[in-house]
Amino acid sequence: MKALICYDTKYGSTNEICKYIKSGIKMDTDIKKVCEVDSLDYDIIIIGSPIFIGKPMRSIENFIINNKEKLRDKKIAVFVTCWAMATKYGDASKEFLDQIKKNLPPSDLICEKALPGKLLLDKISEKDKLIMGRLLRRIDAMSGEFDSKKIVWRDARDRRTAEDFGSEIENSFKKKFNIY
Ligand SMILES: Cc1cc2nc3c(=O)[nH]c(=O)nc-3n(C[C@H](O)[C@H](O)[C@H](O)COP(=O)(O)O)c2cc1C
Repeated sequence: MKALICYDTKYGSTNEICKYIKSGIKMDTDIKKVCEVDSLDYDIIIIGSPIFIGKPMRSIENFIINNKEKLRDKKIAVFVTCWAMATKYGDASKEFLDQIKKNLPPSDLICEKALPGKLLLDKISEKDKLIMGRLLRRIDAMSGEFDSKKIVWRDARDRRTAEDFGSEIENSFKKKFNIY
């Protein structure tokens, strides 16, 4: 039995999260960046993307759309990495998961999870700084409670949560097929 973790990243932090997920899975697991995936001949396909302005990366959306037929009836797990999960606004991540799932064909979705990511504002591109500035001003204006000045930007990735997600995927898969 084999699993594939297929992901993309803009600033590199999701790569590490894939390694954590893999270490929670006992079965043989490949990690591939979406542009390197050449076969979907796996028992479980785990698809993950960081969230930018409420959406998964275009490459991941395209991968799902372009492989719609091949993904049909496969056992699939999805995850997103995002800043919201590092804050008390983690509920927003339900929408992010809906976004990554929206183009999936009728497949067997065995698990889904939003994981906290890494966001250091001084390490992102000038263009993304402007985009983040606009996004934060919008949320500041929309919510009386939210105050972007109080946010501590950091690496919020959590090895344990990601490993547990890996184990959860494998256990759900085995339960479905009565494998003990
Ligand atoms: C321009 C920009 C927009 C972002 N938009 C969101 C967002 O809408 N919601 C969220 O929770 N996180 C958002 N993030 C945080 C990223 O999802 C987080 O930094 C992620 O861990 C990046 O993954 P990567 O290092 O693999 O590219 C944004 C980050 C940047 C730089």
